[in-house]
Amino acid sequence: MNEIKIFSPASIANVSCGFDVLGLCLDSVGDEMIFRKTQKKGIFITKIEGAELPYETNKNVAGVSAQAVYDSVEVDFGIEIEIYKKIKAGSGIGSSSASASGSAFGVNEILGRPYSLQELVPYAMKGEELASGSLHADNVAPVLLGGCTLIRSYTPLDVLKIPVPSELYATIIHPHIEVKTKDARKILKPTVTLKNAIQQWGNVGAFVSGMYTNDYELIARSLEDVVVEPIRSILIPKFKDLIDLAKKSGGLGGGISGSGPSVFALNQGKENAEKVKESWNEFYKNVGISYDIYVTKINEEGIKIL
Ligand code: HSE
Repeated sequence: MNEIKIFSPASIANVSCGFDVLGLCLDSVGDEMIFRKTQKKGIFITKIEGAELPYETNKNVAGVSAQAVYDSVEVDFGIEIEIYKKIKAGSGIGSSSASASGSAFGVNEILGRPYSLQELVPYAMKGEELASGSLHADNVAPVLLGGCTLIRSYTPLDVLKIPVPSELYATIIHPHIEVKTKDARKILKPTVTLKNAIQQWGNVGAFVSGMYTNDYELIARSLEDVVVEPIRSILIPKFKDLIDLAKKSGGLGGGISGSGPSVFALNQGKENAEKVKESWNEFYKNVGISYDIYVTKINEEGIKIL
């Protein structure tokens, strides 16, 4: 293969109760990337549209992941990358992960697919590390594997794919303020009380059970974070009102998407997802901050070849 164009989707990390371990892949929002074989050896970023990002491979999230995959295989050609960013940086829906996972995926395809999607996760994490300063996989895993993923362990890395109920839709609101993941991690406390840990374990287990058994009510009850959201929500204007409104207007519940500022709601069916969108729209237009709202199905496929 000499050239490939891909769609690399946005994602929701944490999914409320699963800080750094749960992730969902989205469908209607994502970046596009083109990978092309070149005679000159190496990785070259030749075009970036939609964002001000460095072209130097070692300073660019996509460049770092691409280089890591490329360096692990002996070949006599190089690869150039064009990046069309549609996901805004610092929005909380996995902008850096779409770049990191997309580039690991694209380079792997041009190289003749030496790695499985699961094996690409650690390569994508290297790009994510450049962006956020930490090696987490809860965005890159669902982008690469599709659907819902759970990181059972980081050392050693153990990534599981969790089934997604067919009617699961997300509504996402992105208030136009920037929250840097690095900063949103710094404000977290290093310890958790036993009481909160017990509550959180119960919710993560129940969420996974609800996903396996299509139990939307159980999913709704599990969308609670007693560890991270109480601290981070102060960064997001009207967070609690958004969650209360989502539940009142037919949603299952929700939380902060990744490190914010986007907020997500999960819903049974598109109709409910649209109702949450309408209620958020009515409410947020008076808050005085510009915003975008999306409704998207959970994307079981992950990255798509266009
Ligand atoms: N789990 C990460 C966090 C996701 O919440 O900091 C953001 O990239």
